[in-house]
Amino acid sequence: MPQQISETSPIGRDTQRVDGPLKVTGKAQYASDYHFPGLLYGVPVEATIANGKVTKLDTAAAEKLPNVRAIFRRDNIGKIFRSVPGEGFEGICDERRPPFEDDTIRYYGQYVALAVADTFEAAKAAADTVRVTYATEKPNVETDLKADDEPDVVPTTVGSTPRLQSKRGDAEGAFASAPVKLDETYVTPTETHNPLELHATTAVWEDSKLTLYESTQSIFNTRSVLAQMFGLPQENVRIITKFVGSGFGSKLWPWTHCSLAAAAARQLGKPVKVVVSRKMMFQTVGHRPRTQQRVRLGATSEGKLVSLQHDYVCHQAILDNYHEDCGETTAFLYSVPNLRVAFGRARRNVGSPTSMRGPGAVPGLYATESAMNELADKLRIDPVQLRILNEPKLDESLGIPFSSRHMLECLQLGSEKFGWSKRTPEVASMKRDGLTLVWGMANCTWMAARFPAEATIHLRDDGTVRVACGTQDIGTGTYTNLAQIASEKTGVSLDKIEVALGDTSLPAGPISGGSMATASVIPAVLAAADRAIGSLLSTATSTPGGPFERRKPDDLALQGGRVFVKADGPGNGVPFAEILRRANVRLVAGNGKSESTFGNPKPKFSSHSFGCHFVEVTWQPEIARLRVSRVVSVIDAGRILNPLAGRNQVEGAVVMGIGMALFEHTSYDPQTGAPINSNLADYIVAVNADSPRIEAHFLDFPDKELNELGARGIGEIGLAGVAGAITAAVHHATGVRVRELPVRIEDLLA
Ligand code: MOS
Repeated sequence: MPQQISETSPIGRDTQRVDGPLKVTGKAQYASDYHFPGLLYGVPVEATIANGKVTKLDTAAAEKLPNVRAIFRRDNIGKIFRSVPGEGFEGICDERRPPFEDDTIRYYGQYVALAVADTFEAAKAAADTVRVTYATEKPNVETDLKADDEPDVVPTTVGSTPRLQSKRGDAEGAFASAPVKLDETYVTPTETHNPLELHATTAVWEDSKLTLYESTQSIFNTRSVLAQMFGLPQENVRIITKFVGSGFGSKLWPWTHCSLAAAAARQLGKPVKVVVSRKMMFQTVGHRPRTQQRVRLGATSEGKLVSLQHDYVCHQAILDNYHEDCGETTAFLYSVPNLRVAFGRARRNVGSPTSMRGPGAVPGLYATESAMNELADKLRIDPVQLRILNEPKLDESLGIPFSSRHMLECLQLGSEKFGWSKRTPEVASMKRDGLTLVWGMANCTWMAARFPAEATIHLRDDGTVRVACGTQDIGTGTYTNLAQIASEKTGVSLDKIEVALGDTSLPAGPISGGSMATASVIPAVLAAADRAIGSLLSTATSTPGGPFERRKPDDLALQGGRVFVKADGPGNGVPFAEILRRANVRLVAGNGKSESTFGNPKPKFSSHSFGCHFVEVTWQPEIARLRVSRVVSVIDAGRILNPLAGRNQVEGAVVMGIGMALFEHTSYDPQTGAPINSNLADYIVAVNADSPRIEAHFLDFPDKELNELGARGIGEIGLAGVAGAITAAVHHATGVRVRELPVRIEDLLA
């Protein structure tokens, strides 16, 4: 059937999610959807102070409530060991202290006990009945950040790092003598991840084997942390994560509820489920830390940068060392001979911060791109022009070329699609339908690399293909991507491809983080397919009486699901299923493996994605009404495997950027240290009514340095830069420079 042979590659085509039907029919199982005979429910008891000590924990009344199995605290939870970081992405967690390890409370909401009962309601009633007495000290949740006294090299969650991140030339001297100077400080607030799915762990023990049904972005890291915490060999721990209702970074590494669920299940000999409440999500599963960033720019009067200094401070927890790397993009984004990027950190009585979509780069680019926009206004240069003037030819921080950088094309396409040339720079100079119409823009960038990955492909005698990889789909479309890659190589249509993810019994796959899952799995899946095809072709030539009996495997090829003699062309191919059936082989298998490029100390190329956002905001000064009315984003992320899902990623990220610019902030009560707006009524995220028409465009320059298909990643870059573009527009509207997010109406009335 010639049409099957000519079936074109699914790569680069708008492709519906292959897991869509499972999700819309409710068959997709998330971590809290698993039920087992005898399942018990755990509800943690949260500290109601942020600094001090537990002096008394009275559980007697709670224990007497109906259907309560146990109230766990340090003296009855059993041993929970500490985990330590291992090789690569192993043993990582932001909050290292095992739950209940001591009586000291270091942040509001820290778990002090766990109530376990036959029903969730009974467990909640019991948790609420536990009486805790504290010796309370005043918490430090001070919002003004001054760097603590720390050494030049500091520990972070993922290894140690120098506080002087990048340096070239003489930044201070060049700044002092620069004809045009800008010296401003930008502040981003604490932000809390609010994925739809609450964090959840369902823990099941069978003898000394532990299985966790877990909402995680990294099953293999979760396995290594939990194996350490329970003193088990890794093969005794299995993590299953079939579906995740998003994470935005909050589910990258395990949190304290995971080990509590596992420990409670061990003590009671029954499966235990712990679902973190929305309120707890503001306390115990991470947040983006507050940042305070001083940016100094020096330029010639023509707009050429001569000096860039970026000094920032972010908060961290009392015990842990999470570092928000706001300087990640500063050293390579623009051409500037003199540069210095350095940071400090300030400990606060808060739960540990963690990665949140575009960690570091997102708050960092808000500061540096805002400074670029302010500099453009100072110089009376168009902000797009200022960026073009300072576009680098290579990565000046490392002295190496970019693997693929098309920022200028992004700016050109973005300006064109948006109509930027019609902009008039004077404040409030543009009107439409009685509204003040204002525009702003910013650049964005995000790192590109690969994590190690392994995958297995089966070609089966019913003409189907199975692709397996121990990564997970956090809602971004990984199931679909893997099916596309397998289909590209085998020519089998997507509906005949089964994708298995989210189980540590599968070949080790990458974390769903850093926007790197897709780039990481491509080489492993392609190599696995090659091996499976090799095995198929050997089977074809070694089957007596088969159509290819007298051929060598090298003479043959597979295309469109059919095996054919290369010299004859694909016209007379035989379906591979037929070859397997004739040989009485149910399946041929191939394993593929690819190496990490992440953290390579001597890279040949500097690999990043690039892009820009153009935003339109309308402003009604009479009623102080500010709306984002239009966004055009152009992203250069290499080859886009699935533009439909890709645009969806960028649109979602832009909506999150609107929230970052205008709404999102977690407020800590200075008296109690509690995150006080810890619910979705008081913590405002952008919703449909706040979301304008968003146009997401992709350039199509495959980055073959990263993988054969040339795909980088698109999960995070769409959020970077949006807030800076919006605050530039706000200035264009009102003449007010807002340098502390989110923009509040009060700022604009001043
Ligand atoms: Mo992303 S913050 O690496 O989930």
